[in-house]
Amino acid sequence: MLFDEKRPVGANFLDLERARKWDQRSAKLEGNHTEKARHIADQLKLTDKYTVADLGCGSGFFTIEIAQYCNKVHAVDISPVMLNILDEKIKSNGITNIACSNKGILEFLSGHDHLDALVLQLSFHHLPDFWKAVAIHHMARLLNQGARVFLSDVIYSFPVSEYKTHFKEMVDHLSSRGDDGLTTDAQKHLLEEYSTFDWIIEGMFEKCGFRVAAKTVNSSTHCDYVFERE
Ligand SMILES: C[S@@+](CC[C@H](N)C(=O)[O-])C[C@H]1O[C@@H](n2cnc3c(N)ncnc32)[C@H](O)[C@@H]1O
Repeated sequence: MLFDEKRPVGANFLDLERARKWDQRSAKLEGNHTEKARHIADQLKLTDKYTVADLGCGSGFFTIEIAQYCNKVHAVDISPVMLNILDEKIKSNGITNIACSNKGILEFLSGHDHLDALVLQLSFHHLPDFWKAVAIHHMARLLNQGARVFLSDVIYSFPVSEYKTHFKEMVDHLSSRGDDGLTTDAQKHLLEEYSTFDWIIEGMFEKCGFRVAAKTVNSSTHCDYVFERE
């Protein structure tokens, strides 16, 4: 029995117009994504022997970059629309080491026995906490000791009593990036998606056999983590 991952939660990435806009939006949110991909590759200690999965890869904004640093990337997403856009990029750039998989994170992980590293870039918040823990349990099962997970997401590091202030800051910040849709998306995210506290995320990884190798608090609503399998 698995959570129904293919039923969209919050922002609907099955929508073609949204999918087409995603890279443009990511560029507004992320700044220099080539630099960030290099940082992810460093943090994950990627080599040309590694098989990596980019879980919730979307239209492959980061997948294409990460593929340069490893042997193979599984590009995993529930949205065939996002994967079609990635597939066009793969074909037009003659890339041979990305395999697209139209699956959910849980479905993909539970069907694999071994991977060398994992990337979760703005996707883990689509799973409720219990199912995040199930996904992490599978990550622990299929990664060797020392292998790493890079997680970047909307993760809360403020005291719960201050949530109104920090939610407002997040919406205001995204509204200021010059894209009307981002304001609605931010509000939808806070109300309908499954972002949670940093101490819950850390607790879930630690309980499943990982340690926090690095943590960057980008803002009170956005963290980057590197978790290492113990
Ligand atoms: C905010 S986008 C991020 C895309 C990409 N990682 C990036 O940073 O550009 C979230 C993506 O996660 C996908 N997604 C949502 N729930 C998922 C699940 N359970 N399993 C796999 N992908 C999922 C959505 O279809 C969407 O493409």
